[in-house]
Amino acid sequence: MNKENDKIINRIANLSKQIRYHDRKYYLNNNPEITDYEYDQLVNELKQLEKENPQLILPDSPTQRVGGEPIKAFDTVPHKIPMLSIDNTYSEEELREFDKRIHRFIGDSTIKVEYVVELKIDGIAISLWYENGSFIRGVTRGDGHRGDDVTTNLKTIKALPLRICDLDPVTGKTSKGKNDGKSGQLSPKSLEIRGEVYLPIKDFQELNRMREQEEEPIFANPRNAAGGSLKLLDPRETAKRSLHLFAYEIGHSDNLEILTHMDTLNYIKNWGFSVNSNYCICKDIEEVIDNCNKWETLRNDLPYHIDGMVVKVNEIRLRERLGSTNKAPRWMISYKFHPEQAETQLTGISVQVGRSGTLTPVADLKPVNLAGSTISRATLHNFDEIKRKDIRIGDYVIIQKAGDIIPQVVSVIKEKREESSIPVKEPTTCPVCNGNVGNPDTRVYIRCLNPLCSAQTKRRITFFISRNAMNIEGFGPAVVEQLVDKGFLQDYGDIYYLKLEDLVSLDRMAEKSSKNLLENIEKSKDRDMQYFLHALGINHIGINAANLLAKHFNSIDILAKTSKEEIEKIPEIGPKIAASVEDFFKNSRTEVILNKFRHANVNMKKAEDEGLPISQKISRKSFLVTGTLERYTRDEIKDLIKTHGGKAMSSISKNTDYLIAGKEPGSKLKKAEELGVEVITEDDFLEMINTT
Ligand code: IVH
Repeated sequence: MNKENDKIINRIANLSKQIRYHDRKYYLNNNPEITDYEYDQLVNELKQLEKENPQLILPDSPTQRVGGEPIKAFDTVPHKIPMLSIDNTYSEEELREFDKRIHRFIGDSTIKVEYVVELKIDGIAISLWYENGSFIRGVTRGDGHRGDDVTTNLKTIKALPLRICDLDPVTGKTSKGKNDGKSGQLSPKSLEIRGEVYLPIKDFQELNRMREQEEEPIFANPRNAAGGSLKLLDPRETAKRSLHLFAYEIGHSDNLEILTHMDTLNYIKNWGFSVNSNYCICKDIEEVIDNCNKWETLRNDLPYHIDGMVVKVNEIRLRERLGSTNKAPRWMISYKFHPEQAETQLTGISVQVGRSGTLTPVADLKPVNLAGSTISRATLHNFDEIKRKDIRIGDYVIIQKAGDIIPQVVSVIKEKREESSIPVKEPTTCPVCNGNVGNPDTRVYIRCLNPLCSAQTKRRITFFISRNAMNIEGFGPAVVEQLVDKGFLQDYGDIYYLKLEDLVSLDRMAEKSSKNLLENIEKSKDRDMQYFLHALGINHIGINAANLLAKHFNSIDILAKTSKEEIEKIPEIGPKIAASVEDFFKNSRTEVILNKFRHANVNMKKAEDEGLPISQKISRKSFLVTGTLERYTRDEIKDLIKTHGGKAMSSISKNTDYLIAGKEPGSKLKKAEELGVEVITEDDFLEMINTT
């Protein structure tokens, strides 16, 4: 019995070790060695063993990243070591001043002081505590003395080691504990690592795109999005946010003598943290300045947002001599980039009406150049913001781009305000349909309350035909606009009753494009149920929720008859979604529209063989997609791969079986050729799944 138990304990330890190793390969080195399928097998075996032996689950097991239920609030806890801030500089001169101060402190202006210059990642600073190698607590900076305990959310970040690496990252073997900072080493008993949690720009944009679709307030910049994601009360939601981490300092370590910051970075890296590789060691302040200038021009090429550089004395002994003021260390300074801002005049406010009636103000601007592009509009989010910033029509305003995103109005130049400036009034009626407006829920948004408002109808139809919904091509915004204005479409159900003569009667719609559009509309009738459900545009139902619901219900009709209490029983479906689904299907107008779909034979059911057609050719094979495909969106082709038993990967390695290359394939194609991965077309892939 004991022997058997030992065997299980050993297997669990071995599996955990392998999974940690492959996590590092995947998330830190960007160089996976096994397929997703093989990886999933390891994880599934571990999960199974832990399920059968719950007493053997360790808190730092790789299965424990997303655990637990939502919490009510975060505990505020004191920092053992205060998290100071950094003094800022904004010019080369101030950097030279910093260097002179250090030399004055040493009392010798001829000594060369070496600096390490790092990117200043624009994210959320955190302190991570490890005891005996295991991650035990992570706290936000807060006010520097006390921060929020966000441990459960931090655990969901795959680049954060739950256990300090006890494998040599090069050989994958257990290290013998050489504490030289160059190879894998056993970790100190108690260790504090400091770093930055951030959201890559791509993920930030995707998150905002989804939020816009769901009519949730968008985040102004990646930093706010990272902060918001870390402060979600449900760790399962945080896990969906693709947060990343760069570690840059050791806050505390038992019995470890480190001589330079370069050694610090090596230690951190070998313990399994991701260290940003764009640091540079500089022999004097002039080299530091060159490096800062270099990154100021290159910053827009990075996949994450940086707002400056951090300059640190390399030698730890010298750091100790320099010490800190009560605010900030004397051995470190930040060089802040010039914000990408511009001044222009606000010529008016337009109001956009969203899919569910939300009125969003947009600033119309005198065109101005900002970071290389001409800007004539900027978001204002909501009318509260206009009040808060006291923005008037005719004002001169400062606009800026935060990260790689839509510009925003930062502030008003009050000194330049002219008497003729006009205060902005909150709309009392809808600017499009003149219907009543109000604020039915507690949110800051004002909504048009007229469900028949043509602006809302247009937005709902545009959403219905979009790629992740019914994917009907040939339906440009001008076509939707005219079809609604001419009364051919009163809701998206009417799409399936459009006639050739309706379409050719529109401006710039020739017979050929009209016929194509009708064909595309016809094809969309067979769209899988999850896309149809998404297309309905039910509040809070993004593509993820639509997928989950489609998995649990065989048809829209069954879902429509299910109570919110039943819907809520589905894991990951919360009360907000469940209530929204119930509301939608209870609405009498919904029934009228659903009837239009029924009579037009639009598929509202799950395909009978869905989930079953395991194709022999692609089963267990791993696929990566690059470039633009003709028939499918990324999400769709990935679904198709998975439905047929294959694995959809997100990066390429020698173990990738096939690369599906579309138009403008990019660097993955070159890499595939180098690695000898077979490259196929979209058609080849379709043939593979059809001919088995
Ligand atoms: S060192 C005493 N290194 O910038 C603070 N900070 O504006 C030790 N930051 O609070 C921090 N990148 O959140 C350091 N490479 C880097 C950094 C970095 C970003 C953040 C950090 C800090 C803030 C100060």
